Amino acid sequence: MKKTAILLTGVVTLTTLALAPRVLADPVDEALTIDGQEIITTAPAPTEPEGHPFDEVRSGWLYREPDTRSMEADSFENPGMLAVERGEEIWNTAEGEAGQSCASCHEDASEFLKGVGASYPKWDEASGKPINIELFINKHREEKMGAEAYKFDEDAQKDLTAFIKNQSLGIPVEIDLSEGDMMSWWEEGKERYYLRTGQLNLSCATCHEQNNGRYIRADHLSQGNTNGFPTYRLKQGALVSLHNRFRGCIRDTRAEFPDAFSDELMALEVYTAWRGGGLSVETPAVRQ
Ligand code: HEC
Ligand code: HEC
Repeated sequence: MKKTAILLTGVVTLTTLALAPRVLADPVDEALTIDGQEIITTAPAPTEPEGHPFDEVRSGWLYREPDTRSMEADSFENPGMLAVERGEEIWNTAEGEAGQSCASCHEDASEFLKGVGASYPKWDEASGKPINIELFINKHREEKMGAEAYKFDEDAQKDLTAFIKNQSLGIPVEIDLSEGDMMSWWEEGKERYYLRTGQLNLSCATCHEQNNGRYIRADHLSQGNTNGFPTYRLKQGALVSLHNRFRGCIRDTRAEFPDAFSDELMALEVYTAWRGGGLSVETPAVRQ
């Protein structure tokens, strides 16, 4: 009976979890409002392209503990809002050879950015690849401001990304798969999502689809949606970017994890953004 392997984090394997039906718990059925803004936390699953595994998509917020949920519902209590404030300062600060800030060209941020954060990743003609908000920031820093690109997960990158996405708070995520070659990235992302990797031989779907609603130790497994990123994680006491979360989830299967912004993780970002289509942008979400 020594078949149960232990995850790096000391978590029991899913074989064990699957044998324990009492650990299956429904997510809460509660409404979320942030600063008077209604947040869509459940939505009918996208029907185009076909093959979404769920009838209904659900925000990770519904799976969290009451304290964590109320922290997100009150923007004064949400520690991630400090990052949004820092992001706003960065937006307004001139840097680089052209002596310009984002605000120099994009005056009214709340007007200009409304909906932008809900529509990425988008097709980028110039690179012939999808581009996310982090890479778009780098693009305009380099091309429009003559400033250096941010390094992956540098604080300013997370703060500015959180500020940009927060301007779409409440707006449903909807990405455009008809542009360029987006569909083949979607396909690649899907393949990666179902690929079992690592010593534990787990795919994203093993945890977030087949074991959705079960507990891994104290963690209630959500659908793994991306609408709250960058999220404020209580465990880290900091904002966590999406690609950092992807890498953490892959590492937990004891597999080599790919570089941030690699084609592999960009494909996963396209596919997972689609899976969570219809859910409101919640950035900065609070998670454990
Ligand atoms: C010198 C002017 C200039 C500066 C400085 C500049 N941008 Fe832009 N930006 C543009 C122009 C022009 C467009 C529209 C065409 C395009 O996408 O290049 C645009 C478009 C955008 C969009 C819209 C993309 C969409 O999906 O609709 C975003 C987001 C954006 N910029 C972010 C930024 C950020 C963040 C910064 C600061 C790091 C910045 N920009 C700095 C000129 C600028
Ligand atoms: C061993 C189980 C496991 C695997 C495999 C796994 N994850 Fe996760 N993931 C978790 C746990 C636990 C959490 C935190 C609780 C939750 O939201 O499900 C999480 C959270 C997430 C979140 C954040 C959800 C939110 O609402 O903030 C995303 C996104 C995510 N995972 C994506 C992925 C992707 C993509 C893969 C495959 C590359 C993957 N996960 C593989 C266990 C796993």
